[in-house]
Amino acid sequence: MTAYVLKGVSVLGASPVDLVVRDGVISSDKSGVSEVVDADGLVALPGLVDLHTHLREPGREDAETVETGSRAAALGGYTAVFAMANTSPVADTAGVVEQVWRLGREAGLVDVQPIGAVTVGLAGKQMAELGAMASSAAGVRIFSDDGHCVADPRLMRRALEYVKAFDGIIAQHAEEPRLTEGAQMHEGEVSTRLGLTGWPAVAEEAIIARDVLLAEHVGSRLHVCHVSTAGSVEVLRQAKARGVRVTAEVTPHHLLLTDELAASYDPVFKVNPPLRTASDVAALREALIEGVIDIVATDHAPHAVQDKECEWAYARPGMVGLETALSVVLSVLGERWDLIAERMSRAPARIAGLAGHGTDLAPGSPANLTLVDPSAHRVVDPGELASRSRNTPYAGTTLPGRIVATFLRGEPTVLDGKAVK
Ligand code: DOR
Ligand code: ZN
Repeated sequence: MTAYVLKGVSVLGASPVDLVVRDGVISSDKSGVSEVVDADGLVALPGLVDLHTHLREPGREDAETVETGSRAAALGGYTAVFAMANTSPVADTAGVVEQVWRLGREAGLVDVQPIGAVTVGLAGKQMAELGAMASSAAGVRIFSDDGHCVADPRLMRRALEYVKAFDGIIAQHAEEPRLTEGAQMHEGEVSTRLGLTGWPAVAEEAIIARDVLLAEHVGSRLHVCHVSTAGSVEVLRQAKARGVRVTAEVTPHHLLLTDELAASYDPVFKVNPPLRTASDVAALREALIEGVIDIVATDHAPHAVQDKECEWAYARPGMVGLETALSVVLSVLGERWDLIAERMSRAPARIAGLAGHGTDLAPGSPANLTLVDPSAHRVVDPGELASRSRNTPYAGTTLPGRIVATFLRGEPTVLDGKAVK
């Protein structure tokens, strides 16, 4: 195994040091190092961990595959991603989650951890074989019907009870479906002006309120996907103050973009939950800094051209995000490296119980890390993305920061800003 020295690197913004990567771990032994990486001016972070990625395989390989999504993740500084279950077929059996897990190992660019569906076919009627997925080779610990809400409270309660036995998590896409029928964007002034059916904030907040009560009652772990409203933050704040076992994520796009963008009628801005108001964005930022929201997760949602470049009403919701996430977070939080490492690496690894990721970059730790050039800026060009899809809302905008290198267990997956394979 090649040994690397990252010369003059700043670990989380501290004074420059030489960091050695050897035999899969961080080391202080510089003897026999064969490769020197000039890391002058670069910041090292523990490899990023994404709890919410759509990789589309099996079924929609025209939009993304485990391999192309893994490459996009590595280029974004990630060393582990959790693949959502809304594939075709749905990841609701041991067979499908093992397939995704195996494809991830074969690609070898990031650790791909499958998320299992909560209900058969994401249909919300019958609980999937959670136990079989948990005891499969994929070792699933997180279950979600993401894309759909587990709306039936009895089913949600049973799923929470079921996963308690192995300290599993139900990750909820909080959307009361009766309140969002026909919804096209956030319900508010802009939707009224544009004449589009609104998706009210209360449809998210009501489900989160219900689910924190269920999680509290059962004593199980709930994770709330893509929190998007100020009201949701208040519900979470109260639940956490009471000691409910709840964690929550926010996406980069909900930290930066607002519903005003829908006025362009460009479906690249259509996403679920929808972009909200500037005051929601401000509340989400504050909650992320405080820790009421635990992590940033991308909700990377690649879509084929024909599913996105059409009339707003027919376009699928979702945005790609893996390759721009760190830059967006940098533009929102600034160079608060320790906070960024906590919200994008340590906390997601801890929530998921993912060993070997999100650990301090100290001698003996697994060499899962990424090197960022904070002084670089780039204009986002959808044509340059490694993702198979192009639906980035940042096309043509300038974002700070560039991922220069990523290491997975001591092997580079990205060097000089380019994927190694
Ligand atoms: O915008 C979204 N896209 N939200 C979801 O919940 C699902 C996702 C997808 O799968 O495209
Ligand atoms: Zn979702």
